[in-house]
Amino acid sequence: MAELHVRRATIGDLAALVELENAVFAGDRISERQWRRHLESLTAEVFVATLEHRLLGAVLLFFRRDSRVARLYSIAVAEGARGCGVGERLLAKAERAAVRRANRVLRLEVRRDNRVAQRLYESHGYRLIGEYRAYYQDGEDARRYEKPLAS
Ligand SMILES: CC(C)(COP(=O)(O)OP(=O)(O)OC[C@H]1O[C@@H](n2cnc3c(N)ncnc32)[C@H](O)[C@@H]1OP(=O)(O)O)[C@@H](O)C(=O)NCCC(=O)NCCS
Repeated sequence: MAELHVRRATIGDLAALVELENAVFAGDRISERQWRRHLESLTAEVFVATLEHRLLGAVLLFFRRDSRVARLYSIAVAEGARGCGVGERLLAKAERAAVRRANRVLRLEVRRDNRVAQRLYESHGYRLIGEYRAYYQDGEDARRYEKPLAS
């Protein structure tokens, strides 16, 4: 049976990342230019989940040199591949990458109406630390979560 691979993204994944982004998110999208910048950045990491060279999901992390708090900026799984553990695998990879860079905490924001993603975070040790009002383009609030990382 074909196996799911989770690996560092390369510039060769750019087109598939943009396609995934446009398929999954209606607003607040990361543009091609931004993906390219993140792929080349020393303070960002992108991981992709692939099955037989098909890109099924991606996660984007940001780091700051002067901070031990990493940020999970985006995670997405193609609609037809959801509910099979791809999101979980990407989240685990993101956490390991943050630990490797000596971060103590991983933080993220999620739409208040996105219960599926909130359940994923809550079942993996993330706790609600606050809210931002009208954080997204369409006016939806954000819930902020964080997880202490074991070193
Ligand atoms: C959130 C998302 C990344 C989860 O990816 P996924 O591959 O489906 O997640 P997994 O299969 O690894 O599921 C892990 C957990 O997520 C939750 N979950 C996933 N799909 C769910 C569903 N349809 N209904 C309820 N909970 C669900 C469950 O807690 C699940 O744990 P379980 O398998 O023990 O029930 C995916 O739904 C997605 O891309 N959504 C659109 C983009 C998005 O919302 N990104 C997050 C923005 S912050």
